[in-house]
Amino acid sequence: MCGIVGYIGPKEAAQFLIEGMSKLEYRGYDSAGIAVFDGHKINVEKTVGRLGMLEKKIEQAPPKGHTGIGHTRWATHGRPSDVNSHPHTDCTGKFVVVHNGIIENYLHIKEKLIEKGHTFTSETDTEVVAHLIEEYYDGDFEAAVKKVLAEIEGSYALVFMTEYEPDKIICTKQDNPLVIGLGEGENFIASDIPAIINRTRKTFILSDGEMAIVTKDSVWVQNRQGVPITKKIFEVNWDAEAAEKGGYEHFMIKEIYEQPKAIRETMLGRLAKDDSSIILDELKWTKEDVAAIKKIVIVACGTAYHAGIVGKYYLEQLARMPVEVDIASEFRYRSPLVDESTLAIVISQSGETSDTLAALKEAKRLGARTLAVTNVVGSSISREADQVIYTWAGPEIAVASTKAYTTQLISMCLLALYIAGLKEAIAPERLKELIHGLKELPAQAHELLEDVEPIKTFAQQYGFNEDVFFIGRSLDYAVALEGSLKLKEISYIHAEAYAAGELKHGTLALIVEGIPVIALATQKDVYEKTLSNIKEVKARDAVVIGLAMQGDEQIKKYVDHTIFIPATEKYLTPILAVIPLQLLAYYAAITRGCDVDKPRNLAKSVTVE
Ligand code: AGP
Repeated sequence: MCGIVGYIGPKEAAQFLIEGMSKLEYRGYDSAGIAVFDGHKINVEKTVGRLGMLEKKIEQAPPKGHTGIGHTRWATHGRPSDVNSHPHTDCTGKFVVVHNGIIENYLHIKEKLIEKGHTFTSETDTEVVAHLIEEYYDGDFEAAVKKVLAEIEGSYALVFMTEYEPDKIICTKQDNPLVIGLGEGENFIASDIPAIINRTRKTFILSDGEMAIVTKDSVWVQNRQGVPITKKIFEVNWDAEAAEKGGYEHFMIKEIYEQPKAIRETMLGRLAKDDSSIILDELKWTKEDVAAIKKIVIVACGTAYHAGIVGKYYLEQLARMPVEVDIASEFRYRSPLVDESTLAIVISQSGETSDTLAALKEAKRLGARTLAVTNVVGSSISREADQVIYTWAGPEIAVASTKAYTTQLISMCLLALYIAGLKEAIAPERLKELIHGLKELPAQAHELLEDVEPIKTFAQQYGFNEDVFFIGRSLDYAVALEGSLKLKEISYIHAEAYAAGELKHGTLALIVEGIPVIALATQKDVYEKTLSNIKEVKARDAVVIGLAMQGDEQIKKYVDHTIFIPATEKYLTPILAVIPLQLLAYYAAITRGCDVDKPRNLAKSVTVE
């Protein structure tokens, strides 16, 4: 994920910028750059690669000056490269900007600016911001920034500098964090607290829509209308390690809590404002392109494979496409029936999983069109596939996948609705309802994360059981698979997921008194059937935790405990239902004293067969 730093004061800015950026390295990045005002002009140094490469580049002649901004980039728009690295400049080089987030309407702005004669050097969405400010500047930096903000749409933390008014740095944010650190005769800006805690512990956090004008002696905060805002200053008392985790105990729980934001970002710019269609500019398929697809195969590993199973439901039920899902390590050796009329979709958070990459190559060799759903721009899988849908979850550090999964589900849902729209397989009204439902998800995920106490209690109560079963039908079964994987991998509890109707064909023999069974019952069309399966396990004295939709009063009569998720569209339940299961796994692992972020025998990216 991108990182931002900024400095204004009496010291050499470059020193702090590099130090601050090094504290943000844990977030993952692919390029880095700084811009420093030397008293006459702004000098920009940037490069693809690790921070060490930037340090090497500037080692002989570090940019001198007391005002500067810096950035570590985690590519979204445009592959990792020198020119795509931040800071970005306008045509004159007199304005510089660094940016975290996504400018949703950048293509439209870029076209307009090109018509006006601006020359672009990068593929990024950010560069439009630098050219826009050049366009609007007429002697008042602050006014120009406000005009830029009125034009751009999306999520951002933006930090600006200009040669015209070098005594200030202006920053603002929308849905992306930005922190101001207050020093004596110097001030600091950062996207995250770890970047500044070596220099100051007096900080405040900017809120959405606020703009800070930072000089060496003062920080003025105002809203877009220019109304001054008094910020509450707080002393950070976290140590460096806690600061990296944003104050959370583990990366996994931090990433679970990042899901509302990650889900929102995955959808950003991809849902028509009037809810009438899905916009996937990265595909730009026609009706004919879709008509040429006779079969879809989805291939992935682990959690990504589970997202593929949900994807199959989406593509079959919403877009009426025939779909097969396979585990990558199986697919590549089973002589799959794949040809030019097949669309092969590979799903991979890292984009580097060896089995998935090999399966992708095999599908290509057989003539299939290929599409990757991945989180990492420039990864091997993104480069190998014909087309890519990025999940935009931000870097995932914990071994257990959480926000990668929910954003993969969103991506698969968007793809299914996109195809359904092109095929006219879905009524416009139904499409609208689903898009409306998608838009509600970030707030609903947030709501779910607000009250985790009951889940903590279940984890403490059942965390020492050696076996746990998950059951569900239809989409609930798909989520059960992911819930059981989460529990296994981080708490080492033996967990199995079964299609609820399949229990009686063997597994029911394992259900004995006191065994915890987590029964997912969010799917109305199979609800009664699921209740019968719950009765089957209750009759064997299992302890049942029912996971159902808010408003379902009936379930309480059949289970021992309940977890409710906010009411949503049937197809969107997996995105919410998985969150309590992630939390259950997390707190069970804590109860058992496990190493949550680095479970035994597992690696984040599996680059061996
Ligand atoms: C999930 O929690 C895992 N650690 C694992 O199953 C993972 O999803 C799998 O290895 C695939 O990784 P990828 O998405 O990076 O390809």
